[in-house]
Amino acid sequence: LGAAAVAAGAGWALLRPASPGRLLRSTAPLPPKFRARLPIPATREGTAITIVQREADLDILPGLKTRAWTYDGTFPGPTIVSRRGTETVVTHRNELPEPTVVHLHGGHTPAESDGYPIDLLLPANGQPGHQHHGDMMMGAVATGERAYRYPMGQRAATLWYHDHRMGATAPAVWRGLAGFHLVRDDEEDALPLPEGDHDVPLMITDRSFAEDGSFRYAADHVEGVLGDVVLVNGAPWPVLEVAPVRYRLRLLNASNARRYRLALDPQPPGGAAFTQVGSDGGLLAAPLTHDAIDAAPAERFDVVVDFARWRPGTTVRLVDRLAGLDVMRFDVTGARQADDSAVPAVLSRTLEPLGPPKRTRTFRFRQSTDGTWTINDEAYRPGHALANPRLGEVERWRFLTDFHHPVHLHLDPFQVLSRNGHDVARYDMGWKDTVDVRPAEAVEVAVRFTDHTGLFLLHCHNLEHEDMAMMADFRVE
Ligand code: C2O
Ligand code: CU
Repeated sequence: LGAAAVAAGAGWALLRPASPGRLLRSTAPLPPKFRARLPIPATREGTAITIVQREADLDILPGLKTRAWTYDGTFPGPTIVSRRGTETVVTHRNELPEPTVVHLHGGHTPAESDGYPIDLLLPANGQPGHQHHGDMMMGAVATGERAYRYPMGQRAATLWYHDHRMGATAPAVWRGLAGFHLVRDDEEDALPLPEGDHDVPLMITDRSFAEDGSFRYAADHVEGVLGDVVLVNGAPWPVLEVAPVRYRLRLLNASNARRYRLALDPQPPGGAAFTQVGSDGGLLAAPLTHDAIDAAPAERFDVVVDFARWRPGTTVRLVDRLAGLDVMRFDVTGARQADDSAVPAVLSRTLEPLGPPKRTRTFRFRQSTDGTWTINDEAYRPGHALANPRLGEVERWRFLTDFHHPVHLHLDPFQVLSRNGHDVARYDMGWKDTVDVRPAEAVEVAVRFTDHTGLFLLHCHNLEHEDMAMMADFRVE
């Protein structure tokens, strides 16, 4: 299981592995650290957006090209920006050599646009490539283009979109199919949080590279694939020059399997490294401070860091304390200046605890003897719902596991109620759509199925586990 680490400062302590998965080493020479500038993905606003999925040769390693699968030619893809309550239609055109499926992670999306894993978008060039056959139900298959409709009836939040094809998600995301999708609203706009250039999305991924510069991947690493190069917004160990003022950093762990314990080095003199203002589903009720943040795959942590706490000229590294990795560096430059941003003591008044649950359901995440990852001893079968919650009702869902599994629900966010019968961890606050369930833990969440009826997914967001069938349908009725 890898190196053991002791949870610290999290309200509970247990021995646990740093990350599930196997390290795949690069055979290309590793790029130098802190040379690349942090790229900021281009933003796309509007109610009708078109994205072309295509191969592109990216400059990630010095002197080499990396052939990637991209949304619109970049990795990450463009950052889509929506307003709460205004429908956004994103039309994807598939010019890749294989079928794809797009899922908006964290979106309260109707079933037909949610990226159900067999609702394939076949390549426009008419070569469908590898497909699953057999007794499986057929999805809604489109060729060339598909319009995904997102009603955006949800709070401001940091969402992301990524590939979700059945049995093929992990390699597709590893090759580059991931991007941010931000939702904004009036409640958040009214707050004096850092904005503009001081509101920075950070997509953290690990990757390995083959000698020719291409992404190296190994489908036989069923526990999960870990890379030896950390990319932030697609650049290896990049640098961002920051003024000595507050920045809002939207941290997203978009790695296939790696978990991070993110910290700043050096620590700011006096006070915690991060002030968390939001989680997966948007603003917290009140800010929370952390010296380190445990981020499992797919989790988002929206934090404010005040760089005025370091002397200009200081270089501050964002590091991972689980595996001892560097992530990126902030170079504090320029003279001290006025900063009219602030983190108010109250962030949101719209976050209420969900009412008492109507029923409790238990989901056991474990590996079967043949190596398949299962939920309640079942490998994923499309159309076979493990739960049938009713629209509008609150349920308590219990996740049990013997291993590390970041458990994710589509459609509606949840609130974490307890871990092993104890209080929730500091990383669990607010509206979540992904919760890191750790070895031998039982995590309880409350969820209300409010938005849409139909078939949706519950799965492990370790993408190799997901591809190895650790996924289930639930049907909201
Ligand atoms: Cu981020 Cu079902 O996925
Ligand atoms: Cu898992």
